[in-house]
Amino acid sequence: MAAVTFTGVSSLKQQTGFIGIAYIRAANYSTENKAYNLASLKRGTGGRSSFNGIVATVFGCSGFIGRYVCNRLGKIGTQLILPYRGDPYDVMRLKVCGDLGQVYFHPYNLRDEESIEKVVRYSNVVINLVGRDWETRNYNFEDVHVKGAGLLAKVAKQAGVERFIHVSALNAAEHPESVILKNGSKFLASKWRGEQAVLEAFPDATIFRPADVYGQEDRFLRYYAHVWRRQGQWMPLWKKGEETIKQPVFVSDLAAGIIAAIKDSDTAGKTYQAVGPKRYYLSELVDWFYRLMRKNKEWGYWRYDMRYDPFFQMRVSMTELARVSWPLGNLHWDKVEREHVTDAVRNDIPTLEDLGICLTPMEDQVPWELKPWIYDLYQGHDVDEPYTEPAPPKVVA
Ligand SMILES: NC(=O)c1ccc[n+]([C@@H]2O[C@H](COP(=O)([O-])OP(=O)(O)OC[C@H]3O[C@@H](n4cnc5c(N)ncnc54)[C@H](OP(=O)(O)O)[C@@H]3O)[C@@H](O)[C@H]2O)c1
Repeated sequence: MAAVTFTGVSSLKQQTGFIGIAYIRAANYSTENKAYNLASLKRGTGGRSSFNGIVATVFGCSGFIGRYVCNRLGKIGTQLILPYRGDPYDVMRLKVCGDLGQVYFHPYNLRDEESIEKVVRYSNVVINLVGRDWETRNYNFEDVHVKGAGLLAKVAKQAGVERFIHVSALNAAEHPESVILKNGSKFLASKWRGEQAVLEAFPDATIFRPADVYGQEDRFLRYYAHVWRRQGQWMPLWKKGEETIKQPVFVSDLAAGIIAAIKDSDTAGKTYQAVGPKRYYLSELVDWFYRLMRKNKEWGYWRYDMRYDPFFQMRVSMTELARVSWPLGNLHWDKVEREHVTDAVRNDIPTLEDLGICLTPMEDQVPWELKPWIYDLYQGHDVDEPYTEPAPPKVVA
């Protein structure tokens, strides 16, 4: 009548007595790699408290995009393996992304194959969000974007992982367009080589190429809002930003695209451009950000051509030289170069819309994101006080 189930042995012995004991093997021993079908372990109706059959390792989970990806994965009942470096308390907040027992943390090192193998061994999906906007003493762009990405892809392939999602960058090219720096952005060139390294090791990898990504704790809106990016109240942009076209994407849309790609096996081996729904001149965007922050002409806002300001150029060089860990205000030459490269969106490469994502227009999201920067907010002004809605930026036809 009653049946007691244990796990561990593969044979099922028929019992005839009052208590039947079925001893079923539900999972293999940890040393037996990938001999089981995770999909067969699916449980529940697809929400946070179910298991959707996906065990995902998210490298770079502690970063800006990582938080959104983990949150969306956890919501649909994914088991998350979150490798981290440094202090475990930095990543501990991701614990609440998934249900109890569904989020695991493990230390790793991007140069240590063995530690990587340990965190991909039980996964069927691996996502690589590891990246750095600037070079550090310990890791240059080549180490992080090329060797690191290639090693993650290689180890994932060896471990029998089914899907590898790699996040690169829009405008990544063998020889990126040069605006200010003689050879263009080193970051973008390394991102292009990273894609090649990933595809060499994992030919079926899905690659995402995001434009500038904005959202909470981003490095796009906050970069322009930062005092260090300005000269007092004046905003220096290369050729006044009037020759650069940008197509930023909302972070939630990018995260939704990554989840959609994981769910759809047809996306394996494809590259996707992650761009927003509209294109704008950089000058229009930055002016609009400052209107939203109520830092208008009366406040002293004035946008000018950076080429004629040696003091700002000196500041960028000094900030880059003087940094201990990260450059103040994220200001460094490679970033200044990249921000002035026009977003090149190719017609022959699919975008997030091809993954069924309904893109968020900047006009719907950015006013909310910039609220904490409203001028004089806590000294007399109220965020809800009557204020004429600033005119939106002009869209490039
Ligand atoms: N945000 C954007 O606007 C944007 C645009 C285009 C492309 N991307 C790309 O998208 C990916 C994710 O971007 P993000 O904005 O989330 O970046 P992020 O906030 O800077 O996070 C980067 C992640 O990479 C990890 N990482 C960096 N160097 C590492 C190293 N040497 N060893 C191990 N881990 C390392 C960081 O770990 P720690 O926390 O331990 O430092 C962090 O988890 C990156 O590849 C980035 O280049 C971003």
